[in-house]
Amino acid sequence: MALFTARASRASVLRKPFLSLPQTTARTLTTRATSYTLNTGAKIPALGFGTFQDPDSQEDTVNRALQRGMRLIDTARVYNVEEQVGKGIKKSGVPREDIFLGTKLWCNDYHPEDVERALDDSLRDLDTPYVDLLLMHYPCTFQRGPDRFPRDADGRMIAGETTYLDTWKAMEKLTKTGKVKSIGVSNFSKGEIETLVNESSTIPAVHQMEVHPYLQQKGFNEWLRTKGIHVVQFSPLGNMNDFYRQTGWSKDVAHMMRVIDQPILKEIGEKYGKSAVQVVLAWGINSGRSVIPKSVVDWQIDQNLEADFELQPEDLAQIATLDAKARFNDPSLDYEWRLYSDLEGIDGTVRGRTH
Ligand SMILES: NC(=O)c1ccc[n+]([C@@H]2O[C@H](COP(=O)([O-])OP(=O)(O)OC[C@H]3O[C@@H](n4cnc5c(N)ncnc54)[C@H](OP(=O)(O)O)[C@@H]3O)[C@@H](O)[C@H]2O)c1
Repeated sequence: MALFTARASRASVLRKPFLSLPQTTARTLTTRATSYTLNTGAKIPALGFGTFQDPDSQEDTVNRALQRGMRLIDTARVYNVEEQVGKGIKKSGVPREDIFLGTKLWCNDYHPEDVERALDDSLRDLDTPYVDLLLMHYPCTFQRGPDRFPRDADGRMIAGETTYLDTWKAMEKLTKTGKVKSIGVSNFSKGEIETLVNESSTIPAVHQMEVHPYLQQKGFNEWLRTKGIHVVQFSPLGNMNDFYRQTGWSKDVAHMMRVIDQPILKEIGEKYGKSAVQVVLAWGINSGRSVIPKSVVDWQIDQNLEADFELQPEDLAQIATLDAKARFNDPSLDYEWRLYSDLEGIDGTVRGRTH
């Protein structure tokens, strides 16, 4: 599966030229360290660190990101980096209890009888007795078994026989084992979350979903807030991730101007002495969400750490005008599941156009 196979270590290529650059700004007085309280009572930092891609670099970058001050690490079983993340945490010397660590179950492990074993596999590789957050990666279930992408002879994904609600109920039980502090979901529609809210006894603590200035999902974000579900923005820089320009999922739409090249963001940044990337991340935090940019480059990690600052209402209003409703992460056709069915930004998923 192209998405989750190891990329050549771009980091080693990229890091060299940047080594000679000065580190970006030292901590400034305008930089905060915001955290939020989840509906479980646990605290989650506003600024975090993504670990999708560049598996060869992740041990080193997780170590360096923690040493530089990151305290929220996002990973997933399907990224194939849990071992590297675990080693990076150990290497950093940062006490485990000071780190908010989240991982995600993958869709071939959604059968209720598989869920605890799948978590144990993650804990073993992460080399930790617990995770702070366990997410269901997508609402679709795949056939249970070792194959993460089980396909039939025609290459079509084979669905599992249980539902995300069954999986959720198995995850609820895990919170009583001490191996998971909070549970949540990712890539769910509003209707799918309503099902969990109405038919189980646990409201998700977190919804991890695609949010950036091109896909602001205002109504959905407001609704999640009324339910007490904290939003963690993935791909917070939008189409910055090259993957979206390459995958059939989104390559047409992903070729629009990169979010961070929008002149409005650069102009706002100049007011604060910040880059467009920092403005984008600050917008998420000022909207009450966490952001988990991924980077393997030290100066970028430093820049991202300096992105927790207050934006004035007029700047937030300017950023609101960038909402193109452009969704880059939509594997609906490949996964044989109409994802995000009641949400914005799904017009691009037309067979033959973006797939
Ligand atoms: N739940 C889900 O289904 C889902 C889906 C996608 C992502 N995620 C999570 O969200 C994380 C972030 O998403 P993402 O990786 O798709 O996108 P992203 O964080 O929005 O963008 C990553 C890209 O931005 C670059 N970058 C980072 N900081 C920068 C800076 N300060 N200046 C310039 N460029 C910068 C990175 O460069 P380098 O790589 O060269 O450092 C990389 O190319 C993932 O790592 C993963 O943990 C979850």
